[in-house]
Amino acid sequence: HTEDKEYVIGFSQCIGSDLWRKTMLDEVKMELSLHPGGRLIYADADGNSKVQIKQVRKMLDDKIDILIISPNEAQPLTSVVEEAYNKGIPVIVIDRKTSSDLYTAYVGADNYQIGRMAGQYLASSLKGKGNLIEIMGLPGSSPTIERHRGFNDAIKKFPGIHIIGQAYGDWLKENAESGLKKIAPVLHQTNAVFAHNDVMASGAREVIEKLHFDPNIKVVGIDALPGNGGGLQMVASGKLNASMVYPTGGKEAIVTAFNILNKHSFSKENILQSLVIDSSNVQLMKLQWNKVSSQQADIERQQALLKEQKEVYDNQQLVLNVTVIT
Ligand code: FRU
Repeated sequence: HTEDKEYVIGFSQCIGSDLWRKTMLDEVKMELSLHPGGRLIYADADGNSKVQIKQVRKMLDDKIDILIISPNEAQPLTSVVEEAYNKGIPVIVIDRKTSSDLYTAYVGADNYQIGRMAGQYLASSLKGKGNLIEIMGLPGSSPTIERHRGFNDAIKKFPGIHIIGQAYGDWLKENAESGLKKIAPVLHQTNAVFAHNDVMASGAREVIEKLHFDPNIKVVGIDALPGNGGGLQMVASGKLNASMVYPTGGKEAIVTAFNILNKHSFSKENILQSLVIDSSNVQLMKLQWNKVSSQQADIERQQALLKEQKEVYDNQQLVLNVTVIT
């Protein structure tokens, strides 16, 4: 990648503190390390759309060459993203969207399809008969809207399946728990809970346990993250019955960014694949992940070694130059 010039990449993250977005940032940094010409300006809005708007404005003042953004809520972030785009700054929207199609590229999975997949999975595992609760994400963020639509469209096709309760959990475990507690009596008639992400699903499981509802109530989430505290582990331990893989797209966003900056070809829509993880395939997925992460560790060791060798070399050059001068 010697052709890469020095580019400043602005990365505006809606909330940086959860495992999913830490994984995204790790992927971003890993891929960036393969493009020596890239410098990252990172801002975390901590779940606040107003803060995120300010952070994007600051990035525009700081003369970024490209903007990567995961908008906290679609509507509030739309105009600042359009502003960037209209100024000629390429914009890559990742995971969450704005309400506009003024962006250069999108990277992420299809949240409508994931919602449908969850609905179909639950309907068939309940053999077409049962009552569900849906715990949704943050009301204004695009995956909430799309997952909800997909899920409800799938359920409509099963006359024996009914959604008997809904709550917002704003993507957060505590809010999911308090939302579910408010409608707790419906848990008496509930066969399964679908939460828009795994952290809210784990909150739902804990509410079911603490309030002594039927442990056979199925709980399904989204993300299926590998590693400690991730969804794969929760499916393996039985805390969750299933989870849909939701790839972060961190790597793909950086690849797309350099394609755009270097005027190579790229697609506007970069749709990442999802898949249902349940007890039938979770062990296989964990094995695959262990293999990938050990390869990743090897790559990082090689990079550290290269850096060390370069430092030794640079020092030797310095010594040589000093010797020549004196
Ligand atoms: C992480 C997260 C994920 C979810 C995604 C939706 O911040 O809440 O759990 O899948 O955002 O944008």
